Amino acid sequence: MVNRGASQLKNYARIIGTGGYLPEKVLTNADLEQMVDTTDEWITKRTGIKKRHIADTGQTACDLAEMASRNALKAAQISPSDIDLIIVATTTPDRIFPSTACLLQQKLGVSGSAAFDIQAVCTGFIYALSVAEKFIRTGSAHTALVVGTETLSRIIDWQDRTTCVLFGDGAGAVVLQSSEDLGVISTHLHADGNYQQLLTVSAGISENYHKLREEGAFIQMQGSEVFRVAVRTLERIVEETLVANNMDKGEIDWLIPHQANIRIIEATAKKLNLPMERVVVTVDSHGNTSAASVPLALDIAVRDGRVKRGDTLFLEAFGGGFTWGSALLKY
Ligand code: COA
Repeated sequence: MVNRGASQLKNYARIIGTGGYLPEKVLTNADLEQMVDTTDEWITKRTGIKKRHIADTGQTACDLAEMASRNALKAAQISPSDIDLIIVATTTPDRIFPSTACLLQQKLGVSGSAAFDIQAVCTGFIYALSVAEKFIRTGSAHTALVVGTETLSRIIDWQDRTTCVLFGDGAGAVVLQSSEDLGVISTHLHADGNYQQLLTVSAGISENYHKLREEGAFIQMQGSEVFRVAVRTLERIVEETLVANNMDKGEIDWLIPHQANIRIIEATAKKLNLPMERVVVTVDSHGNTSAASVPLALDIAVRDGRVKRGDTLFLEAFGGGFTWGSALLKY
């Protein structure tokens, strides 16, 4: 599905604030060496990851989302009551229902706005951004809070070295607002359910995770096959996005990729002819935080001054489903 309507309508959806939150506890590769048969060298070489953050036992995906959202609202200089749409992308919701978006709305001390979750695993934030953008473009919403939040540590088998070294917890958020200035330029969403078995969890919620652990409902992944499809698919979406906008590679200022593996990121950067200095990389210190990884990376690059107003950003993600997507935007 391709949305390329921004140029035909006056209402653009523009990011007016970003926020992130990472739990305090850090799990290093050295820590993992004590838990499974692995080495810092293997993890670094194969994935680029050095450490990741892990939520406290009492912290849920919604708690992380609240912190990231408050940071984004502060950066946007608006209050929760200014929000008329909340979309939360998460693979690890607090409960089956109410949605994490409703729980977040309550935590932010407001009510009445539309609030719902989106589940597209690691592509969740791109899906959420795309949906929020459509609400704004059509005039159905003026100011949207779009969040990616995950407590993947709850669904990780800490004895499975092939997966437990890869993931981390965290949340990222953006405030998207109706604007006459160019913001989101186009978004591109895809899925292929034929790949469901390559990367899957048979059940799962974040709040009562100990029950899931007893049932053994963990992330299972056929890593090298996922890797191959991810690289191929992300290369295709680079092409699709550039062609849809009649844009040259040279016009992209920053690649803000999903943070699963440094080698996948490098392959996408190469496809875009972008040097790694123009790629925002957090995988080394966050691991793969699924739906949280793109907004977290964006927030970091905004706050450290790399991403500036007017820059053209290429956001992309690939995840379970499989799902994949991209968003091209002017920051
Ligand atoms: N420590 C040490 N050795 C490990 C290990 C670990 N943590 N995990 C796996 N290995 C071993 C394997 O058992 C295998 O050993 P063998 O050859 O004796 O069987 C060997 O390392 C190579 O495994 P392989 O799976 O082929 O490695 P890889 O280069 O494909 O890297 C991943 C594995 C998971 C890092 C990589 O495939 C990947 O990143 N996949 C995609 C991840 C992704 O994008 N996921 C989510 C999408 S959101």
